[in-house]
Amino acid sequence: MKKDKVKLLIIDDDPKVGWILTEGLEGQYDILLARDGIEGIQVASKENPELILLDIKMPGMDGIEVLRKLKKAEIPSEVIMLSGHGETKYIVESIQLGAAEFINKPFDVKEVEIHLQSVLEKSHLRSKIREYEKELKSRNQYENFIGDSAKMVEVRNIIEQVADSDLTVLIRGESGTGKEIVARMLHNLSTRSALSFTKVNCAAIPRDLLEAELFGYEKGAFTGAHKTKPGRFEVANKGTIFLDEIGDMHMDLQSKLLQVLEQQEFVRVGGIQNIKVDVRIICATNRNLEQAIADQRFRDDLFYRLNEITVFLPPLRERLDDILLLVDHFLKKYNALYKKEYPTISSGTIEMLSNFHWPGNVRQLENVIKQIVVREDENITDALLKAGAAMPTNAGAGVPGNSGTQQQQTPVADPVPIDPETGEKDYSLKKRVSKAVEREEKSLIAEVLNKVNWNRRKASEILGVSYRSLLYKIKEYKINEMNS
Ligand SMILES: Nc1ncnc2c1ncn2[C@@H]1O[C@H](COP(=O)(O)OP(=O)(O)OP(=O)(O)O)[C@@H](O)[C@H]1O
Ligand SMILES: [Mg+2]
Repeated sequence: MKKDKVKLLIIDDDPKVGWILTEGLEGQYDILLARDGIEGIQVASKENPELILLDIKMPGMDGIEVLRKLKKAEIPSEVIMLSGHGETKYIVESIQLGAAEFINKPFDVKEVEIHLQSVLEKSHLRSKIREYEKELKSRNQYENFIGDSAKMVEVRNIIEQVADSDLTVLIRGESGTGKEIVARMLHNLSTRSALSFTKVNCAAIPRDLLEAELFGYEKGAFTGAHKTKPGRFEVANKGTIFLDEIGDMHMDLQSKLLQVLEQQEFVRVGGIQNIKVDVRIICATNRNLEQAIADQRFRDDLFYRLNEITVFLPPLRERLDDILLLVDHFLKKYNALYKKEYPTISSGTIEMLSNFHWPGNVRQLENVIKQIVVREDENITDALLKAGAAMPTNAGAGVPGNSGTQQQQTPVADPVPIDPETGEKDYSLKKRVSKAVEREEKSLIAEVLNKVNWNRRKASEILGVSYRSLLYKIKEYKINEMNS
């Protein structure tokens, strides 16, 4: 098969340059000519040549300006500058703008040929490395995102399609279905991945503090605001912000968030100046947002704005065929972490796991496998499942049968927890709130302890509590390395 010739565009106002190069190079290159900068940019955008030879000194738009415009338009050609006598001062500027090489005039055609060849080789090499890196990155990403059931394949496809866009993504699903993993994957697979991923848990921070945390505050904005502090949106500039538990955000803050989504700008608490940011927003919730809208706890305009792309994570009980892979993954993970060699899980236990309804989803399965590995005993499975069976689910966070798609869900109210002692529904608000705070506190402490390998001093610093009160809480909540 005949190989296509490499396209070379020559932009030079001097017709002699075009003739000489065409004569010497047309055997190997498909040559395009342009006599000034504007024509050059037009041809480059239409033809996408691999190589461009660009004269610096031209009437009208000079070569430096042309180069700037080509790069701004993200035209991927490699640009080689042709510089006449006394134009070496432009070398630094051109290199900074992304020129690949310099050739001095007058030139010898053979010399130009060697330069073109070397630029081309380097460019091919670079694009191979880029491809390889991209592939490696996406492989690493998926290594931790387990599941090949049809529903998870659908989720994966959506992630791949939208990761590298700036679309706002809303991730929905019951607790423990993997919403945070998905948020991190969306960031890691995007071009923002070199910059920060900032997570804010909207449910864990009281309303007033959340506003200051997200948008920052000016000195004197409230008692205790001794100095101006930028918020998470400013810190996350150019990166991604992950607003977890968005369904718990207060209505006033929802309007401020809507403004950021629409105008990419906001005002610090106590400030007057608009601050512009370029942040990709990803949100997650296990709440029933349609119900929250009906109850006037969630703004419908914000909902529609967030709903640009929705990823529904199916509950584990709807994709039981993923259990084998997940078990295998967690076995490897915890054997490595706790330096154990627990070999495999028996088929009897697998069957037991496959018949369970998993109210706590993947998190619960992970916990079961962790305990089996740590205690090197799978006979505890039955007891573990019985203990975890009464866990309230938040069914309705995803749409049964529609997981992974972008469809609307049927409203279902948040379930009222069952009092474990009486077996009756527990409507006491005070009790519910204090239980929720306890749960949040416990899981946060456990998460931080795990992150710092149970270095309690470090954990107390991160959590912003005294060492003694951390020890007290660990004891009170009975947190240990096995259940954390
Ligand atoms: N597909 C998956 N593959 C591997 N691990 C998973 C998967 N889904 C969830 N997990 C694991 O389960 C645990 C819970 O996941 P994650 O924190 O992302 O859930 P979540 O949906 O954000 O839950 P919540 O609503 O309670 O915050 C994590 O330890 C995560 O690593
Ligand atoms: Mg989460």
